[in-house]
Amino acid sequence: MSTYSISAEFETALKGAWTGTLKSVYWMTARVYNRVLVSALGYHAHELAADAFVRHWQRPGGAAGAVLDLGCGTGLTAEALLERVDVQIDGIDFSEAMLDRAEEKGIYRRLIEADVTRPLPVEPRSYSGAVSSGLFTHGHVGADALEPILAALAPGAIFAFTVYSTIWTRAGFDAELAKLERDGRIEVLDHQESGHFQRLRGQRVHVLTVRIV
Ligand SMILES: C[S@@+](CC[C@H](N)C(=O)[O-])C[C@H]1O[C@@H](n2cnc3c(N)ncnc32)[C@H](O)[C@@H]1O
Repeated sequence: MSTYSISAEFETALKGAWTGTLKSVYWMTARVYNRVLVSALGYHAHELAADAFVRHWQRPGGAAGAVLDLGCGTGLTAEALLERVDVQIDGIDFSEAMLDRAEEKGIYRRLIEADVTRPLPVEPRSYSGAVSSGLFTHGHVGADALEPILAALAPGAIFAFTVYSTIWTRAGFDAELAKLERDGRIEVLDHQESGHFQRLRGQRVHVLTVRIV
């Protein structure tokens, strides 16, 4: 009996094609993103992530203490964070159009165009915290992004993020986070589930806060 497998080259090509599609979607929607998601649908995952972060973050003595905003989009999460705490924030996103919207806010120390599933173009172990909302969702990013993200965070750093509930198991978050905790690389400080659209029923996210060991 023959067996078939999808070659690594084919998988890479598929991923590249999908990445292009996703960037096109954000290129087309960047200008209306806040109006549609926040004003019309009541999206508030960015506030859930910011609340989770400030519950556990303490300014590290003497360190620069900058925070990474992963998949920063138009800058909603950084805005929510700055309403709660005084920190410097660097944003990362692979969509130039979304980064342009974030830039207009004038709230980031630095904006970086990069794919979070690859090694990040930042100093390893240099950030005292990270936040992310809306990045770990359908057709976006799975648990394979956790390693590049963790590599950027200093020991003791706090990382607060949302994961769309329907991809929690399918995209490997339950298994990968359990493994990272078993291996002594992270400590899960908080894990809740919550709605993240005031005007859409049944849409939920896991809200995680972890400390880098
Ligand atoms: C649903 S938006 C969330 C934006 C913002 N954090 C918020 O809560 O409004 C997802 C963002 O992740 C970005 N993104 C998706 N995949 C990415 C990847 N592999 N690397 C970097 N950014 C990515 C998209 O360009 C988009 O700006």
